[in-house]
Amino acid sequence: MTTAFSPTWQHAVVTGGAGFVGSHLCTALLDTGTEVTCVDDLSTGRAENIAALLEHPGFTWVEANVAEGIPVDLPTDLVLHFASPASPADYLRLPLHTMETGSLGTRHALELAHANGARFVLASTSEVYGDPQQNPQDERYWGHVNPVGPRSVYDEAKRFGEALTTAHADTKGTDTGIVRLFNTYGPRMRGHDGRAVPTFVRQALAGEPLTVTGDGRQTRSLCYVDDTVRGVLAAAAHGMRGPVNIGNPGEITMLDLARLVIILADSDSEIRFVERPTDDPALRCPDITLAHDKLGWEPRVAPVDGLRRTIDWFRAEAATGTRRTMPTPPH
Ligand SMILES: NC(=O)c1ccc[n+]([C@@H]2O[C@H](COP(=O)([O-])OP(=O)(O)OC[C@H]3O[C@@H](n4cnc5c(N)ncnc54)[C@H](O)[C@@H]3O)[C@@H](O)[C@H]2O)c1
Repeated sequence: MTTAFSPTWQHAVVTGGAGFVGSHLCTALLDTGTEVTCVDDLSTGRAENIAALLEHPGFTWVEANVAEGIPVDLPTDLVLHFASPASPADYLRLPLHTMETGSLGTRHALELAHANGARFVLASTSEVYGDPQQNPQDERYWGHVNPVGPRSVYDEAKRFGEALTTAHADTKGTDTGIVRLFNTYGPRMRGHDGRAVPTFVRQALAGEPLTVTGDGRQTRSLCYVDDTVRGVLAAAAHGMRGPVNIGNPGEITMLDLARLVIILADSDSEIRFVERPTDDPALRCPDITLAHDKLGWEPRVAPVDGLRRTIDWFRAEAATGTRRTMPTPPH
């Protein structure tokens, strides 16, 4: 299957470009000849993620909080709005920042796109489905979200972002798209960001017990980052409004994931069951019919391969360390 992705952009602005997914997006865009301005305040991202990109003549990093404004005055024909804390550990630590990024930050990113006549794509999330009452989730499902629960700062910020994006398209004619990303994993995740894959990999490589929450029977669907990036760029190129699910429909229980990581990391770690967080969804699985039919997209990387690559990256990082000296951003 080929994906309908034919890059024609001159200059892209990627908010959150120093984060896990954003930095892979920046790399993919640069690889296809698009110049990239990354706007990131490093609130949850890592300077190391873009250290190599700063040597690329087509790459610029602007250090800014998008909730306060996006100080970019270059013409741009693509705005990928990926700035937002994404792991529960981060958004629980940064609740107001998360809501301001999803609301004011989304507004500023939309205004930048509109002013330039650029294509805009919002990184939304499977969290808009909350603790879903149907499985798998397709884009017509409205979700089951607790608006005052601990996860609400993230879920509702993203739901507001989707509503704002839709209103912008309806009232101003902005060319918008919404991608609902399901759990994505791969190199450049932070070992302590609280998400299952980096936590298990870090623990397995250190020979520590893998901490599985609850009884471990809750499921997630895990999409390797290269597949996610390909899906996002396909949605951007297609021009669809969405929302469109981008994720891997293969479900795995957290207990099976922990066991798989132990095997692939060749670790002798044990499994320890710990308390499950409040409002942790029991099921999470995308219906990707829309992405398949409209974009010709489906994930290609098998979990075993993606986990191997991720484990290799964590192992190499642990061995060499990633401390680099970052140049001061130009703006
Ligand atoms: N990784 C996933 O599994 C996943 C799943 C669903 C949705 N998403 C979405 O994808 C995007 C990227 O997620 P990620 O996993 O790479 O997270 P991440 O935390 O690694 O990256 C987010 C980036 O945004 C930056 N940022 C946050 N607030 C900002 C602000 N106000 N101004 C400027 N920069 C800001 C951070 O410094 C970081 O570099 C997020 O919008 C997230 O909601 C990710």
